[in-house]
This record gives sequence, structure tokens and C-alpha cells, in this order.
Amino acid sequence: MDLIPEPRQATAHADRFLELGPRTALAAGTGTERTERWLRATLGAATGLPLPPGDPGGPGVLRLSVDPRVTEDLGAEGYRLAVTPDGAHLAGGGPAGVFWGAQTLRQLLGPDAFRRAPLPGRRWRLPLTRVEDSPRFGWRGLLLDVARHFMPKDDVLRYLDLMAAHKLNVLHLHLTDDQGWRVEIRRYPKLTETGAWRARTRFGHRASPLWEPKPHGGFYPQDDIREIVAYAAERHITVVPEIDVPGHSQAAIAAYPELGNTDVVDTAALSVWDDWGISPNVLAPTDDTVRFYEGVFEELLDLFPSRFVHVGGDECLKDQWRRSPAAQARIRELGLAGEDGLQAWFIGHFDAWLSTRGRRLIGWDEILQGGLAEGAAVSSWRGYAGGVAAARAGHDVVMCPEQYVYLDHRQAPGEDEPVPIGYVRTLEDVYRFEPVPPQLTEEEARHVLGTQASVWTEVMEDRGRVDYQTFPRLAAFAEVAWSRLPPPGQRDLAGFERRMAVHYRRLDALGVAYRPPAGPRPWQRRPGVPGRPVEGAPPNR
Ligand code: ACM
Repeated sequence: MDLIPEPRQATAHADRFLELGPRTALAAGTGTERTERWLRATLGAATGLPLPPGDPGGPGVLRLSVDPRVTEDLGAEGYRLAVTPDGAHLAGGGPAGVFWGAQTLRQLLGPDAFRRAPLPGRRWRLPLTRVEDSPRFGWRGLLLDVARHFMPKDDVLRYLDLMAAHKLNVLHLHLTDDQGWRVEIRRYPKLTETGAWRARTRFGHRASPLWEPKPHGGFYPQDDIREIVAYAAERHITVVPEIDVPGHSQAAIAAYPELGNTDVVDTAALSVWDDWGISPNVLAPTDDTVRFYEGVFEELLDLFPSRFVHVGGDECLKDQWRRSPAAQARIRELGLAGEDGLQAWFIGHFDAWLSTRGRRLIGWDEILQGGLAEGAAVSSWRGYAGGVAAARAGHDVVMCPEQYVYLDHRQAPGEDEPVPIGYVRTLEDVYRFEPVPPQLTEEEARHVLGTQASVWTEVMEDRGRVDYQTFPRLAAFAEVAWSRLPPPGQRDLAGFERRMAVHYRRLDALGVAYRPPAGPRPWQRRPGVPGRPVEGAPPNR
């Protein structure tokens, strides 16, 4: 049946089918309304079938239900799908399980079910089959860096559809960085009036002599954010917002110079950064800065219902704090252990602030420096070590090690890879990625909430470049996150590649500009645009 991600159990009758037609009814039980809407809108568009409401006992009906027995056996995200000559029954452990089952149903109908209008003369039939399925992890994430290159709202919505098709359920939106601020904050309009735009952009990685001399930017008005969040929720996807503090903050400082270390830099002269790397311009550790960001987070909590809120915390260069008399006085006043203590104070403040508002802080693994409060969770990006340390200290973790699942890294050796960054991380490498660090005990491993792939966009200037870096590797990642695969060395790569042959046709129907197995198409290359390839294999876990 060529399903991706591979279900837990599936059996099919070869050559026996349930035919769908204009009279095929959809009988949706309580709790399945979102899937009902999605099936009519999405599958309806692809097949031209109206899927009218019908009687659950009627002939040939597609029946959706939430079933407590499925909840018990497979959890809220699990589902059972039975296609018989009399009809199809999709039972979820909860509303989300029904939705993931509907994604399986779409794959069973063939690649043309991924189009937006029906091709003439197509027959729509489901193989007689039984599928029983549930995810390995509850956090199956994708990070989109909409700060380095802005991703217009429509492209974000499209990625939510692509995530849903791969049963991924967390969109981590990296909304702020040195190079741009992307979310409207009504009480601080300059964050987007000034902070969302840069005058020019380096084309290629840091060493590139090339510049794109046109202004770049954009931001999401609050109603666009609400639309993104609602569109995600219809697809059982949670959007986790990230506002990066106290580093990666030059765009905010360019908008409000008082947020920076004014005693050591002329922050009024700063603009949104037009280069790549880590800016030394970090937030000043003052009460005013903290109050300002509380105002930002207040509006953010109103926009994003997600339990987890990401505060960044990564790569905060400490040089300005070392030189700043005000920062040094702050360290003494608060009795902190140097500049690292200041960073921990910053993060600790928002940890407590979010907790009292019923939310949980999550941050990059640098937030472990200085100790973490009870409910905080960690995104382990610098390899496995942060995740291991956090889980051993009793913190929840999301595994997103850069050496394995940073999709900005190049996916093949050779001159043809566009703007090559980092290690070679092939489709096979991602397929063999194991999210749970082997050194954890079973008890500690329970803190691994799941895993996340990251799409950092310094060298991805448009949707085509994002597609190229993200696919096909996101399909392998989805299987790692959803399916219960054997240990990395025993995974059936040949079987996965066989299923991928069909999956490429689904991606074609969806209009995804993936990297073809034989290498980039001519227009996918970027000859002469320097990247920053790293040679050799990534360091061991
Ligand atoms: C990161 O890549 N700095 C989280």
C-alpha cells in the first residue's frame, strides 16, 4: 500500500476494492467534525466527490467515529481503519486519531488524491484493508525559520497541509531573529515597522561576496497569526511560537534601541542585520527590557493557545555584557555567577512568568546553563548531550540535533548541491536517525517528548529552496517520528525507498519542489553561490 509513514499494522487484499462514487456518503460521528470538513474540502476537491451526509449503516458509506476502545488500545492519536466491500469505517482514539486515519485514507486512494481538482476519467477506489496505527511520539515537529527569510502566510498554510499529509503535529515558528521580527505586537509597532525589514541580504553563506540589493522582509499581522493557528488546529497541529531572548535580538534592538546595551554600543545607529551569523547585539539585562518582553509575551499568549512557548535562549554572545558596566552592576546586584548567570536569570524569569500563566517554557539546550525550573523543557540541538542532560535532570526534551535533522545541511556531496551547508545528511541518514539517545534508561527516555526537524532559511530565499531542502527528507523524518522503527542499523531502507517511489508521485501532485534522487534539476542549482560545507562525518553522539 506504500504508506508513509509506515503504519503499525496493515493488511490488504490484493486486487479487491471498495469503489467510491457520487453517492458515497460520509457519516461523521461526534468528535469527528474537523476530519469531516477536511475530507469534504480536500478529498472532495481532488476527487470531485460531494461526500454527502449519510446514514452510518448505509451501503458503501465512509463512517467516522471516536471510539473509546481505540483510545484504550492505541491512544488519542491512534486509529483503526477497516475497508470492506460494505463500506469503510475509520475509528479514532480521539479527534486527532480520526484525522491521521483520514491521511492514510487519502494515500490509499492514490497520488491523484493529492491534487486540487479531479483529473477526468479517474476511478476512486480503496483497497480492502485493515490498518491499525498510532504514533511513537506525541511531538512530531517541524521548525520553520520565517525570520531569516520571511515566508508569506500562504506558504505557511501550505506547509501545514504538507505536515498534515505526513502526520506531523507541531509547527515551531521561529518568529524573531537578528535579521527580522515577524509578528505584529500592537503595543510596540516599531517591532514590525522597523524590525521586519532589512535593506539588503547576503546571497549565500557568510563567505559569499554576493548581495541581493533589494529590501527584504514581511511580518504576520495578528489576524494572519490567528488564521495560521486556526488552520493548524483544524489539522490537529499545534503552533509553538518562538521569541528568541536574550540573544538573536538585533532586529528588536534596531526598532527599540533602549533594549540594547547602550553603555557599550550606539544602539540607535543599529539597523536590522543584513548578514548571517550570530550578532553580538544582545538584550540589556534590565528590568525595563524584561517588562518590555512581558508585554510581547502577553500578546503572544493571546494569539497562541499552545501549552509550550519557546523563548530561544541559544547562542547569546556575552561580549557586550562583559564590557557593559550596567550589566556588570546587575550581576553584582543579583548575586549572579557572571554572564552565564545573567542568561539564566533572564530565562528563569520567563520560566516563572509563563508557569504562573499556565504555560510551559521551552528553550534551546543552552538554557540548561544555570539550572532550570520545574516545568521547563529543552530543544536539544547541539547533538544529543543537551537532551541527555535534560532528561537525566527530569526535564522533558525534544530531540532536534543539528548533525541529523537540520535540513539546511546539504543532502548530497558534490558541486551541484545548491549553497551547500554543513555535513552531508542524505535521505538515508535521516531515515536512520534515532531520536532517543541510547544512553538513557527507560525511565529517563520517557522525558523524550519527541523530535523535530529544523528548516533554517539563511540560504533559502524562496519557497522552492525551502521545498528542496525539506523534501524528500521530511518524509523520512515523519516515519522516524511516527513509526516504531527498529534500531538504525536494522531499518529497511530498501523498503522505504520502494514506498518513496510512490510518495514522490504524491509530492508531485502536491507541487512540492523536492530534490530528485538523481540530484538537483538545473533551476534548483545555485552555481557560484558559496555555502559552508563541513567535510567528513558528524561527530558521534
Ligand atoms: C540554533 O540552531 N541556534 C538553535
